[in-house]
Amino acid sequence: MLAVGDVLEELVARPSELERALGPVGRGGITTLHHAPDLTVLQVAWTPGIALYPHEHRMWAAIGMYGGQEDNAFYRRIPGGLEPAGGRELPGGEVLLLGDDAIHSVANSGRDYAVALHVYGGDFFATARSEWDFGTFEERPRDLQRTQRLFDEANARWSMEQRDA
Ligand SMILES: [Fe+2]
Repeated sequence: MLAVGDVLEELVARPSELERALGPVGRGGITTLHHAPDLTVLQVAWTPGIALYPHEHRMWAAIGMYGGQEDNAFYRRIPGGLEPAGGRELPGGEVLLLGDDAIHSVANSGRDYAVALHVYGGDFFATARSEWDFGTFEERPRDLQRTQRLFDEANARWSMEQRDA
């Protein structure tokens, strides 16, 4: 995780090169760049206004922001749910390392896409894990289709806002 974090530090220091390599972002969502049993690399573009409910990964994660800013809130498990445990704003050029027991929610409160490389120390798509309802903190199985719907709704809202502006 630390070595991957070092590589991400170098990459996000040159955001225009990353953008040239990966292409401009015109829509929020998750793009898989590498997917193996021991390592997953995603490009994640958070749509302005999106807020992804608390979830865990059950593997280490290293997040390198190279555009916009994502706001992370952290949580701890308590009987029957979660309790808030601080947060961290992650602007472009910064790297966040998360241990395999981290639980976080992510929001983009800015007016630009918040774009990052996400590296996970395992199979991001196949590993069973949990997410929690934002309002009740009720635990449920991680549902990536629900996450996709959240992106679809945020993208629709944002494109409508752009059209009306
Ligand atoms: Fe996450």
